[in-house]
Parts: sequence; structure tokens; C-alpha cells
Amino acid sequence: MKARLCIDRDFEIGRIDRRLYGSFIEHLGRAVYGGIYEPGHPSADGRGFRRDVLDLVRGLDVPVVRYPGGNYVSSFRWEDSIGPAARRPRRLDLAWKSVEPNEFGLGEFVQWAREAGTEPMMAINLGTRGIDAARNLVEYCNHPGGSYWSDLRREHGSAEPFGIKLWCLGNEMDGPWQVGQKTPDEYGRIAYETAKAIKLFDPALELVACGSSTGTMPSFPLWEATVLDHCYDSVDYLSLHQYYGNPDDDLPTFLAVSRGMDRFIESVAATCDHVKAKKRSRKEMKLSFDEWNVWFHSREADTKAEPWQVGPRLLEDVYTFEDALVVGCMLNSLIRHADRVSIACLAQLVNVIAPIMTDNGGPAWRQTIYWPFAYASKRGRGLSMDLRIACPVYDNKAYGDVPYLDASAVLAEDGSSLVLFCVNRADETMEVDLVAAGLGDLRMAEKVELRNEDLKAVNSSAEPEKVSPRVLAPDKAGPAVLAPYSWTMLAYSLTGR
Ligand code: AHR
Repeated sequence: MKARLCIDRDFEIGRIDRRLYGSFIEHLGRAVYGGIYEPGHPSADGRGFRRDVLDLVRGLDVPVVRYPGGNYVSSFRWEDSIGPAARRPRRLDLAWKSVEPNEFGLGEFVQWAREAGTEPMMAINLGTRGIDAARNLVEYCNHPGGSYWSDLRREHGSAEPFGIKLWCLGNEMDGPWQVGQKTPDEYGRIAYETAKAIKLFDPALELVACGSSTGTMPSFPLWEATVLDHCYDSVDYLSLHQYYGNPDDDLPTFLAVSRGMDRFIESVAATCDHVKAKKRSRKEMKLSFDEWNVWFHSREADTKAEPWQVGPRLLEDVYTFEDALVVGCMLNSLIRHADRVSIACLAQLVNVIAPIMTDNGGPAWRQTIYWPFAYASKRGRGLSMDLRIACPVYDNKAYGDVPYLDASAVLAEDGSSLVLFCVNRADETMEVDLVAAGLGDLRMAEKVELRNEDLKAVNSSAEPEKVSPRVLAPDKAGPAVLAPYSWTMLAYSLTGR
């Protein structure tokens, strides 16, 4: 099969915000207990932080990590998670029917994030709580001292403020499963008032309002339009959440989900622009796609989970090679929308629908989806370029005609290199001609491929490298060659412009 990619130096989509490659740690399952924190594990440091997990997290180069939920945040009492650990209360978490010992809390997360080379993106409880708890939390985290909450933080051992810049105003407040679900008017009002209080404290803090919990909610996109009617001028981002799965084992449709993601982003952007026009505003609302991933493998097992455990096995999807291809396509969708999507969080980071797993006391290992994310995060920084794809298309059950090639292009800020991320959705080899204008001479300098004959191949603690990338010799002159059902990164050096 043949394909053509056309790119022009003059046609940029936009600068990629580094936070496009964020992730998420929720107090859910074994993300915290038995994941990032496991005192007694051979790799744990004096604070109980697993060093092997930290190493793999650093390998993903995530600039922000959302915390502490998720559904968990909607009944989270942040005051339970500060001060001497031995005196913190054990609580029942209604979202995941688990016991939360609060051994690992806010201060520990801030320390962990520093070790991991990332920044917290802190979520506020607007389910069971509201403005007062939110303003106290912000004061505890960010005020230098000389007030009740900031002095308490100092007493708890952190003389310096945490300096958390990015705050989520609740989580999935449209969802009936949420503790403290709101109507769009109720949520829009509380988001507006909470934003007002936080911006009175510090107008430089950045705030994310909740969009719909998925694009298939019956209230989408009226939820977005109503919420933004209340708080358009007070918030900086609107959130999107979307998970995809392949429960019917329908590969063509599953590989096409990034088309659905493209449309979802475009519909949310259009809804924001509708409110912008209505308000005669000059501000363009940016998007925070702060939960995205493949999630379906664990759903049945989770219905049988024993309630009220600390760190139960929940949402432990074991990802196939096919899932890694889909994650590669979803990353392409995010890069293609870098003009609107500033922040995105792969949900989640460790053990819970995660690229990193720990089990049975052994070393942490990487799931298949780790790889496309790691390469995009490290090499997909710069300018997202408009990439036109000409290639055969195929029909499928949900997304209409979809090209066999899914791709995105990132030009280095200094113009020295161009990186293409490609997913070949076809079961045959694809030859790709790159037609580039205004970029000088292109020479393929690097080719990295993720591929497995078995689409259902998985990594495990016993075989952690089964699905892992291979560095190939770059294709010489002529088209780039993509293997059947593969993810490939092609890096070109640019000269002579
Ligand atoms: O990421 C798992 C859960 O998915 C989150 O807690 C929630 O926000 C979403 O429904």
C-alpha cells in the first residue's frame, strides 16, 4: 500500500505545550499503596517511595501529574492527608469502596512529584465540599507563611510553599456516579465562585473547569455550554475525558478511535467558541484532556472486587500490543490539536490503567502503552505541523472512512529536525512518500518501530520486554517503509534551508 504525507513549513498547527504529556495518580487501587509508595519493598527509599517506579516515571518525562483524583477527590477531605502520618484518620472512600489510610498524603505527593521531576496538578473537592475548603487548601499549599494554614504547612515541615500552579475545579461533576453530582447550573455557579476565591488569592493560578465526563454523556455538549455560561471568564481550561475499549474484538473500529477523539476535541472547541461568541469575548478557551486512555480489560474483574480494602487490585488493565497502537493514534490526535489542547493526562500512571506496573514484590515493569507515550513525550516537543495524509481508507462500525495511516508531525523549535509519529492500521506494508515544502533537505536520521506479530501480545513481570521498541536502520532515499500493524517514529534532520 502507498501513502503520501504533505507538509509545508508555513502551515503550523501550534506550539505544543509541554503539559500535553501529563499523567495522573489517583488514590485508587494500587496506584499509591503498592504503586508509587510501598515501604518495605526492596526498592523503597526512607520515605517509602519506590525508586524503581520513580525511574520508570522519569523515563516518561511527564511535566504534570494530576492528583488525588478522579472520582476519589469528590469526597476527599484534604485536611486528613496532612500532619503527622500516625495521627491521620482512616476513611472509607465511597468512590472506589476502599479504605484510605491517609499514610500517603498531600505533602508526600509534593515530595514525590519533585523526585519524579514533575509538577502537581491538584484537584479540588467540589462534590461534598466547596469554596471554603478550596481556599484553605490553596492557602496551605501556596502561601509563604504568617496565616493559619500556611503556618500549619510550615509546622508540618515544609517551610517553602508548594507553589502549585494548576488546579482542577472538581472532577466529572456531571456523572451520576460522582459523590455530589451537580446540574450544569449548580456546577457552573460553584466553579465560578471557587475560581473567584482562588483568583483573589492569586490571579496567576490556572484553573480547569469540568467538561463532560465523556463525549457520550446525554448532556454533552449542553453541559459545557451551560457551565461556561457561568464561568467562561474565570477559568483557563475546560476538561475532556475519554476512554476507549475493544470489548467486541473489532480491530478495524478500535484502531479508528482517534477519529472519534478528533471529533470530540473539535466539538468541545466549537462549544467553547459558541460561548465565546455569545459573550462577545476575545478570550479563546483552551482545553485540558485530563483523562484519556484505553480502559476495558479490567471492567468485569472490578465488579467482583472485595470492598473496603486498602490498595485493592482495581482497574488493572494489562495492555496488548494492539492497545499500544491505539494509544499511539490517541497521542497523534492530541498533537494534531495542539492549538486548542494545552494539557493532557494519560490516565493513569502506575498500576491503575497504567503504563507502569508493579507486582508480587518484584521490580516495576513497563506495559506496551509505555512506549508510544515515552517517545511522544520526549520527542514530540516543538511545533505541531499540519500534515495532510493521502492514502487508501477503510470503513468500520463507528467512524466512517478512516485512512489506513494515522500520523502527526512535530518540528523542532530551532527547525533542525522533524519527527513523524505514524501508525499503520493496515495488515500490509505501507510505503510513505513525504512531500515537504520549505523545510530544506530532509534526511531520515532515526527510525524506531513498535511491532509484534501477535496483536494480543502483552508484557508482564515474567516477560517485561516482550513488546518493546526496536531501533531500525533509517530508510535511505525513497519512501519510508512502515510494517503492517505498527507504530513508527521517523526522525528527519533538516539542512540547507
Ligand atoms: O481514571 C479512572 C476514573 O475514570 C476516574 O476516577 C474518573 O474521573 C473517571 O471516570
